[in-house]
Amino acid sequence: MTVTKPTTGLARVPAWIIPALVAGWTVATAVFAWRTQTPLGTTVVLLAMGPLLAGLLAAHRKQVAVLRRLDHQSRTIAAAARELHEVRGRLDSLATRALSTEQFGKAMGETATNVINRTRKGVAADLLMTYRQLEALHNLYAIAPVERPLPQTRGWASSPDLLLFLADLVARTQPSLIVECGSGTSTVWLAMLLRQFEIKGRVVALEHQAAYVDKAKAMLERHGVADLVEVRYAPLTQVELDGRTFQWYASDGWSDLDAIELLFVDGPPGDLGPHARFPALPLLGDRLHPDGLVVLDDMIRTDEQEVLAAWLEAYPSYSAEQIRLEKNAALLRRDVPRM
Ligand SMILES: C[S@@+](CC[C@H](N)C(=O)[O-])C[C@H]1O[C@@H](n2cnc3c(N)ncnc32)[C@H](O)[C@@H]1O
Repeated sequence: MTVTKPTTGLARVPAWIIPALVAGWTVATAVFAWRTQTPLGTTVVLLAMGPLLAGLLAAHRKQVAVLRRLDHQSRTIAAAARELHEVRGRLDSLATRALSTEQFGKAMGETATNVINRTRKGVAADLLMTYRQLEALHNLYAIAPVERPLPQTRGWASSPDLLLFLADLVARTQPSLIVECGSGTSTVWLAMLLRQFEIKGRVVALEHQAAYVDKAKAMLERHGVADLVEVRYAPLTQVELDGRTFQWYASDGWSDLDAIELLFVDGPPGDLGPHARFPALPLLGDRLHPDGLVVLDDMIRTDEQEVLAAWLEAYPSYSAEQIRLEKNAALLRRDVPRM
C-alpha cells in the first residue's frame, strides 16, 4: 500500500494564524479601500477574499494531517504485513515437518515399543542378577552351614557372588593369613570358611569405625568364630604417597602383619575422597606372601578401576584378572619371574 507523502510546509503553520490573517486582511482591505476611495463592490469582493483564502488554507492543513495519519497507518500495515509473511514462512516450514496423524501414531508406537523393550531388558537383567545372587547364597549355605541369622549381603556389604568367589579362593589357596580392609558380613563368612575347610588360618579385619568393630565382634561371637578373627580398630590417618594425601588405616593396625596370603580390599569407603583404596598396595604390598593374592571389590565403579590402573602402573610385577560379579572385582597376583 502506497500513500502520497504529505507536504509539510503549510501544515506546520499554527492554527491561530488563519483567523489572524483573516482579521489582518479585513483591516488592510478596509484601510486600502478608505484611502483609495475604492468602489463598494470591489471593496466587498476584496473583503470576501480573506475568509475564502483562509478556508482554502484550513482545508489544506486538514488534508495534510489526514495524509500524515494515512502515511503512519500505511507504515504500520506494511510492518504487520512483513510479520505475517514471516509467520506464514514459519508455518509453511512447520507444515512440511509436521507429521500426519498416521505418522504421529507410528512414531508413538515405536517410542512405546522402545520403552517396553528397554524396561523388559532391564527387568530381565535384574531378575537374572537376583537369581545369580540367590544361587550363590544357596551355594554358600551348602558350603558353610549357618546356624544363626547372618548380616545382610549386597548394598554396603559384599554380594553373595563375591562371597562365593572368595569361598572358592579360600578353599583352593588355604590362606593362613587373610587381611580384610573394612569389616562386615564378609568377615563372618571368611571366618566360617576357615572353620569349614579346617584351615589353620586367621582373619585380621581393619575397621575405622569403633561401632562397627563392636558389631563385627558380636557377630563373630554369635557364630562361634571369634577365635579365628581379630577385628582391629584402625582409625583413618593421613598418608602421603607420591605427593598425594589419603586417609587410610593407622599403621598400628597393620604394621605387625607379614606374609599376607589373601588381602581383601573392601574399604575405606569411597566417599572419603578419590582413590580411597589406593594405599592398600603401596602400604601392604611388602607384607604380602610371594604367592599372596589381592582382591579389590567394587570394580563396577570408575574410582576402583582407576585404583587398579594406578596399581598396575606403579607395580608392574602384578597382573590382574577381571572377575565378573554383581559389583565386579579384580584378582591380582605377583607374576613369578621366569628363569
Ligand atoms: C564396603 S563396607 C565393607 C564391609 C565388609 N567387607 C563386607 O563385605 O561386609 C565398608 C564399611 O562399611 C561399614 N559397615 C560395617 N558394617 C556395617 C553395617 N552393618 N551397616 C553399614 N555399614 C557397615 C564399615 O565401616 C566398613 O568398613
